[in-house]
Amino acid sequence: MSEHNQTRIAVVGAAGMLGGALVRLLQESRRPFVALTRRELDLERLDRIAPALSQAGVGAVINASAYSDVNGAERDDQRELAFRINRDVPGALARTCKELSIPLLHVSTDFVFDGKADRPYREDDPTCAVQAYGRSKLEGEWAVQEVLPGALIARTSTLYGPGERERPHYVDAILRQAREKNRIEVVEKPVSSPTYAPDLAGWLLALLDLGAGGILHTVNAGHCSRFQLAGAAVEEAGYAGRVEVAIRPAPPATLERPDFSPLDTTLLAETLGRPPRPWREALREYVGRYHAPGS
Ligand SMILES: NC(=O)c1ccc[n+]([C@@H]2O[C@H](COP(=O)([O-])OP(=O)(O)OC[C@H]3O[C@@H](n4cnc5c(N)ncnc54)[C@H](OP(=O)(O)O)[C@@H]3O)[C@@H](O)[C@H]2O)c1
Repeated sequence: MSEHNQTRIAVVGAAGMLGGALVRLLQESRRPFVALTRRELDLERLDRIAPALSQAGVGAVINASAYSDVNGAERDDQRELAFRINRDVPGALARTCKELSIPLLHVSTDFVFDGKADRPYREDDPTCAVQAYGRSKLEGEWAVQEVLPGALIARTSTLYGPGERERPHYVDAILRQAREKNRIEVVEKPVSSPTYAPDLAGWLLALLDLGAGGILHTVNAGHCSRFQLAGAAVEEAGYAGRVEVAIRPAPPATLERPDFSPLDTTLLAETLGRPPRPWREALREYVGRYHAPGS
């Protein structure tokens, strides 16, 4: 075990989809960590962040927390909260990490882009968020960079993984429908890089161990449309013969979202020394483990 593996890591947002995957991986690999959920640390109380991390005696912080309701962030009564959690919390975490001289790994999103590209986005492509959620996450990146220019900011996309959620992720939502119906209708877009939360958790720990810094795109390799993702999930679950997946027209947009936001993984592969596995392979593992008949 390397010296880094003994570092006690604080997982902020430990009850979320990524937070849960990080906690499971840290437990499995017997690494020291402290899981901070809303119960241990209400992030709305920015003044509680520094004392909580100081008392926890940690040597690194991973911020897996977010206000992640993209539609909710547009609401007048929610926007301030979205910016507090997605911009002010990362800023406060960065200030605390600087004071404690410990690394911060912050997680961001493909929604910092407008989706008008004709190839997967690279880390240094110009950002342009087109809705409040993306803007709040982009300002979170800036808040971290202002205080800790060397901090690692890992952008990810279209997460899915194990765990019960109030709002099921796309793959679970599709497979729930597929159990009950013979025909599922989905909108074709957007095109993005679906990413398996346990894979992301593994890369994040490896990147922390490597002392990586700056912006990195951390997604499974390749990309697909929502229609293709739904079809692939149905196939992997063994429903393809019974369930037809069809395209339905997109409803009038109430909110601008990037139509095309795949993330380029060249830099991730170079930094890790191995490419991330393709999205379809990761999806196969997830569906096989968590959606097998009788599971
Ligand atoms: N999900 C995606 O498709 C996706 C795509 C691109 C990027 N990302 C990014 O990936 C990261 C992880 O996303 P995720 O899907 O794992 O998010 P998630 O499941 O929504 O988890 C976010 C966590 O943040 C916690 N949190 C929010 N407000 C809090 C507060 N006031 N005090 C304490 N905790 C609070 C939530 O706690 P509660 O459980 O108590 O509410 C939740 O556990 C985020 O940075 C997100 O922006 C996600």
